[in-house]
Amino acid sequence: MSENLESPDSVKILLVDDEVNITKSLRRLLMQSEDYEIFVGNSGAEGLEQIREQVDIGVIISDQRMPQMTGVEFLGEARKLAPDAIRILLTGYADIEASIAAINQGAVYRYLTKPWQDDELLSTVAEAASHYRLLSENKRLNALVAKQNAELQDWNTRLKQRVLDQTSQIRAKSDALAEMNQQLRAGFAETIEALAGLIEMRDRRVPGHSRNVAELVEAMATGLDLPAEEVRNYRSAALLHDIGKIGMVDELLRKNLAEMDEPERIEYQRHVVRGQAAIDPVLELRDLGLLIRHHHENYDGSGFPDGLGKEDIPLGARLITVADCFERKLHQFAEDEALQEALAAMKQEWGGRLDPGLRKVFNSAAEEIFCRLEFSAEVVERKVSPKELEVGMQLRHDLYSGTGVLLLKKGTLFDEAAIDAIKRCFMIDPFEREIAVLIEKNSA
Ligand SMILES: [Fe+2]
Ligand SMILES: [Fe+2]
Repeated sequence: MSENLESPDSVKILLVDDEVNITKSLRRLLMQSEDYEIFVGNSGAEGLEQIREQVDIGVIISDQRMPQMTGVEFLGEARKLAPDAIRILLTGYADIEASIAAINQGAVYRYLTKPWQDDELLSTVAEAASHYRLLSENKRLNALVAKQNAELQDWNTRLKQRVLDQTSQIRAKSDALAEMNQQLRAGFAETIEALAGLIEMRDRRVPGHSRNVAELVEAMATGLDLPAEEVRNYRSAALLHDIGKIGMVDELLRKNLAEMDEPERIEYQRHVVRGQAAIDPVLELRDLGLLIRHHHENYDGSGFPDGLGKEDIPLGARLITVADCFERKLHQFAEDEALQEALAAMKQEWGGRLDPGLRKVFNSAAEEIFCRLEFSAEVVERKVSPKELEVGMQLRHDLYSGTGVLLLKKGTLFDEAAIDAIKRCFMIDPFEREIAVLIEKNSA
């Protein structure tokens, strides 16, 4: 709090009279109270001088009859210099009318007649002093409120700015974090896709198996309106479902389940548990381990490794079983009839091996994924080199790398990313034949 806002302890009183005796006796009278600090001027001019020196004069008592400047004239000037000071005029009976006029004009607060009664004068001055105190206290409080308001407003503005600054900082950090998270997730997904590629290399009889199963599982999970995270997890589990086959002997990989003897069958069945164990050390994949473990359970309870049935089998695992079963069937038939034959062969599996509740969602997903290749009058076939690939072309047959790894499934529509990937692969693991694609007649 600054000094000028403090309440005054004593009130400064200015006495102005050309008669020294009067000012002396007034001073003596007023000095009885410790509440006053007395200043004296022997003329109007001296009085004004005092006011200029003492900025906070509280009460001014002036005689009316003075040479050069009358009391009313002096008090009028004093009012300009100290508008808050309470002005009292000392006047003889002869001047009463002039005094009343001065009061009416607002130049004077009160008048006192000479000779005065001490008691009356003291009480008038006390009243004036308390009036002045009230006025200045009021002024002080108003100034204080105004100052605190200004401070509050200033704080408010700064606080608002700070909140805005911090909000934008937090937003920037959270954006960066989300970006990093996205990169991590993308990196993780790419690693899983790469692992799936390794699994496919191990089991060449069914090229593209993991990715086909994953695509079908993803489409079915999406068709079931599952949350995005769950769809993503099921896709990852589908990509890795046969990871336990990596350690399987070649001889076993070449055989169908029906051709295996008992020890071979037991060894084959271990791939689900080995798969779960293989990914268990990776914390982010641990939950997927269960889906991998149960992807050979049958709906009727006749599967392995735990003989679970119906809803006891996790939904993700049931989806993988459906996709796995269909994908294997696709490879059993010649390319052009494979889709229709495999779809027909699926009919006998529902309710036994497969969850019949998933039949509908499977049919739409399979149609969406495997019936992409449409021949119509608007489409013609062309053979192109990887360099000649263009966005919008559609792959006519499955495309394999030079060393026999499935690169893209037939029906794939080429986009920039697919074209880049094929060009890269052509440099690393070149394939000889040209790529058969379908293009629209108009653009041919
Ligand atoms: Fe399997
Ligand atoms: Fe499989």
